Amino acid sequence: MNNKKIILITGWTGYIGSHWVIAFEKAWYKTVIVDNLSNSSLETLNWIEKILGYKPDFFEVDLRDKEKLEEIFENYSFDWVIHFAWLKAVWESCEKPLQYFDNNIIWSLKLFELMEKFGVKNIVFSSSATVYAPENSSPLVETMTTWNTSNPYWRTKFLIENILEDLANFSGFRVVNLRYFNPIWAHKSWEIWENPEWIPNNLLPFIMKVATGKLKELKVFGNDYDTIDWTWVRDYIDVVDLIDGHLKAYEKISPLSAFQASFPPREKENEWIFETYNLWVGKWISVLKMIKETEKIILKKIDYKIVERRAWDLAEVYCNPEKAFKELWWKAGISLKESLENSFKFYNK
Ligand code: NAD
Ligand code: WQD
Repeated sequence: MNNKKIILITGWTGYIGSHWVIAFEKAWYKTVIVDNLSNSSLETLNWIEKILGYKPDFFEVDLRDKEKLEEIFENYSFDWVIHFAWLKAVWESCEKPLQYFDNNIIWSLKLFELMEKFGVKNIVFSSSATVYAPENSSPLVETMTTWNTSNPYWRTKFLIENILEDLANFSGFRVVNLRYFNPIWAHKSWEIWENPEWIPNNLLPFIMKVATGKLKELKVFGNDYDTIDWTWVRDYIDVVDLIDGHLKAYEKISPLSAFQASFPPREKENEWIFETYNLWVGKWISVLKMIKETEKIILKKIDYKIVERRAWDLAEVYCNPEKAFKELWWKAGISLKESLENSFKFYNK
């Protein structure tokens, strides 16, 4: 038991984080999980226990509570941190910018201070394609400019990416920075989506709530964009593929990874200190096409209405995932059809 790598996961009960716990526990790592349950619930812990047959070590802690977080660092000798915990609603960040800066920036700095104090220098950061400047044209690649972000949520991702790069260059941190954008669906045994009672933020949960009669119609935010059918274009990745990408990233760069043998050995210990990867499928689809694909699966019409644009929306956001394919030996393999079928099964429960 004690030769397992110990990984601190922040934001574990979230949509993406909870899937990560499953993947890591099944890949023979020990996870210690911290969440303040501000956008999730303890039900997720019961679901994880059902899948794993045991409950990972969990602490209901707000990352801004540095004393409580320090106690956790004192009790475990962490090898890595996976940082998911974040406030992530773009519209809310525009209404409460200071809350987003406090929650996402201040507490990340408290986490990094403790990492340095306890000599935990390895971190996988859950960033987002929102950091790419709007003037970049898709397909986006990792070397494109990342500034001039247009809302507080995107700003917090941009700032922490740059702080982590400085910590890598000047304080010996080793950072894997993962950018993704539109994760969809969930593990086939997933029981708790983002609280089904909440009005969803994202396209697919909205489409599925309309498809299952929980909402009357979908609002399509604008159809006057210079795209294939005048509606938005995005690249949607199944969350299970996304987690596999995180696992591959961790294993490629973790010096003592149980899977290290499956990758070419690195020349020297500190060959990299800050690496960014786009985790995306590399295929894009418009909103109207997503509606059509869903109708093919549910065999009925999805009612929708064209309304005005959302202020922060970009017409096209998709990327070139070549770097992750080549360097992580990772490729998203779950088809959109399979993700939609699984989503519909879940929402139709
Ligand atoms: P989520 O809201 O489902 O999960 C975030 C978790 O962090 C929640 O469980 C919440 O309770 C917890 N949390 C928030 N503030 C906290 C605090 N102060 N202390 C402790 N815990 C706190 O979000 P998600 O969709 O799972 O996203 C996870 C990460 O992936 C986030 O960093 C998000 O920005 C990033 N991301 C998400 C998407 C997406 O569309 N879902 C896309 C790109 C990147
Ligand atoms: C997808 C497309 C909408 C809902 C957001 C955040 C981004 C990232 C991922 C964290 C868009 C359209 C949606 C609806 C619609 N999160 N849409 N009607 O906007 O690409 O990105 O989530 O990093 O930061 O901005 O995702 O799912 O909200 O929208 O027409 O009811 O569907 O305009 O083009 P988005 P989304």
